[in-house]
Amino acid sequence: MRRGVLLAGGLGTRLLPATAVVNKHLLPVHNKPMIYYPLSVLMLAGIREILIISTPRALPLFRDLLGDGGSLGVRIAYKAQPEPRGIAEAMILAEDFLDGAPSMLMLGDNLLYAEGLPRVLRTRSAACEGACLFAYPVRDPERFGVVSLDGAGRVRAFEEKPAAPRSNLAAIGLYLFDPDAPARAAALTPSARGELEITDLARGYLDEGRLDVECFGRGVAWLDMGTPASISEASEFVRTIEDRQGLLICAPEEIAWRNGWIDDAAFAELADRLAASPYGAYLRKLLRADPMDRGS
Ligand code: DAU
Repeated sequence: MRRGVLLAGGLGTRLLPATAVVNKHLLPVHNKPMIYYPLSVLMLAGIREILIISTPRALPLFRDLLGDGGSLGVRIAYKAQPEPRGIAEAMILAEDFLDGAPSMLMLGDNLLYAEGLPRVLRTRSAACEGACLFAYPVRDPERFGVVSLDGAGRVRAFEEKPAAPRSNLAAIGLYLFDPDAPARAAALTPSARGELEITDLARGYLDEGRLDVECFGRGVAWLDMGTPASISEASEFVRTIEDRQGLLICAPEEIAWRNGWIDDAAFAELADRLAASPYGAYLRKLLRADPMDRGS
């Protein structure tokens, strides 16, 4: 069974002074902590064993927020990353937790929202035998990992922030790996910027013809939240859609309940703890709603 790894460390220097004492992934994005968004994606993919990796300083706060995951019907474990030595290092840190299982790695500052996303993620996850990237067209690909494809739609190259991008396809901070990834990551050497690069880890699979890609199109929202402006944009996006639909985006409590991982009584308890906020009131209202009117 595939396990989830959520990378939420780093120094958040692009957000100082907002991140002087608070880890970036705990900052609010509209009405919930940033970490709820990637956590929700893993849960929507059906993943119930999740490792959160963050700085030694921030880990206790993540533990305070999410505990062992039991109230959400999942198991959450924690691991410290003392220094931000690269995204691929997450696989080394996760080795014991993964215990030979394949993984879905998600970056803690990514928001992914789309109709039908759970189906796409579950299908890919079941089909992927090596590694898989998720790509998304952007106007400014040089800011991201860039995926280029050959005529048959297979990955031709995956490069980190290239000066001259070969395509407009950014790599979303979401990756599938087979059980070999921790050993492969351990064999990598740091790049010129001193990091174990996700592109180098993926290249091993690419060279063997075992790197798949899922390309998302227009009907998908993918936002990263690494700068003050991008956090504001993400907040505004969430506020706009939530206000319009009256449905929350990426509420882990709701996802756990809809997945059937917690029963009505456990869900009511979670809602009651948040009763003073519109978020809590929303969860409460879901329980009272006619089953035909509960949304999905
Ligand atoms: O958002 C998607 C992009 O994320 C991808 O397109 C890029 O290929 C990928 O490298 C990454 O680029 P960023 O410039 O956003 O990487 P950043 O260093 O900002 O780190 C992304 C997240 O991972 C952030 O939430 C902090 C966390 N992180 C990063 C590193 C390098 C860690 O927790 N530890 C680390 O060592």
